[in-house]
Amino acid sequence: MPFPAHRPRRLRRTDRLRALVRETQVGPKNLIYPLFVVPGSGKRLPISSLPGCFHLSADEAAKEAREVESLGIAGVILFGLPEGKDAQGSQGLTDDGVVPEAVRAIRAACRDLLVVTDVCLCEYTSHGHCGVVEGEEVRNDPTLELLARMSVAHAKAGAHVVAPSDMMDGRVGAIRRALDSSGESDVALLSYAAKYASAFYGPFREAAGSTPQFGDRRSYQMDPANAREALKEVALDLDEGADMVMVKPALSYLDVIRRVRDRFDVPVAAYNVSGEYAMVKAAAEKGWIDERRTATEILTSIHRAGADIILTYHAKDFARWVK
Ligand code: PBG
Repeated sequence: MPFPAHRPRRLRRTDRLRALVRETQVGPKNLIYPLFVVPGSGKRLPISSLPGCFHLSADEAAKEAREVESLGIAGVILFGLPEGKDAQGSQGLTDDGVVPEAVRAIRAACRDLLVVTDVCLCEYTSHGHCGVVEGEEVRNDPTLELLARMSVAHAKAGAHVVAPSDMMDGRVGAIRRALDSSGESDVALLSYAAKYASAFYGPFREAAGSTPQFGDRRSYQMDPANAREALKEVALDLDEGADMVMVKPALSYLDVIRRVRDRFDVPVAAYNVSGEYAMVKAAAEKGWIDERRTATEILTSIHRAGADIILTYHAKDFARWVK
């Protein structure tokens, strides 16, 4: 006999009351803002597929990072666009690459902003795949050493966290061992543990110039139909030494976030990816949705599903809205 004894609307009557009983509160402290760094200096070029985001040279990335820090956002994650690409992605492996340069500039400019780096070959390889290619095959084991070298270069430059997004088997262990044997045992590892072969990466690939030149990523990224397999991927990465795990994309995978949150007692991150952001921006531009309310609802839902950490292109907008 719930009604009339029970009237849930009683607790929805005023703003104060709603705030008092609110179960989920996502804030700038939960967010990580992606930055795309390019060679050179004084560069700040708008990215057409990601309105509000820019290709930034290291000096401009440092300015941007200071603004991100002042907004109370937890950190930035860096993606690099190198001068040139080759089959091995060699420009991603050096200490003076575009990402290490930006890491140093940001660390020098900011007091305590977290600097995370994305570790993957696809931005640096001429074929656009996330691993070493032989024929039409993306080879797993020869890729691990390259990812480990890239991680060490990022760590030496001052990254607090490295985040491998390639989905090769065994890369977390390979990276952990390489970091530890290079004296970087304090650098944390956030693994893109359950990363799906998703159509929602479209705007990012335009921004990063990382569209595969042949085939697709389905031989290494996960099938969107699978959730149990995500739990296996997470378990393996934790065994290999991941400190935090990520589910990506976020919005079509809220059930996966929830299952990972319930099963594992480690910080869980989710990536609110480029396509999710671009859809909101595009619909808002047309006047079809309210950007602020939509983005807030999306971030709240990802947090409610169980993500402690959210990587999002909306981080700066959101931090301003809640100020
Ligand atoms: C690199 C990488 C991708 C994203 C993050 N790291 C693209 C991909 O796997 O093709 C996507 C991020 C986004 O769409 O916002 N492997």
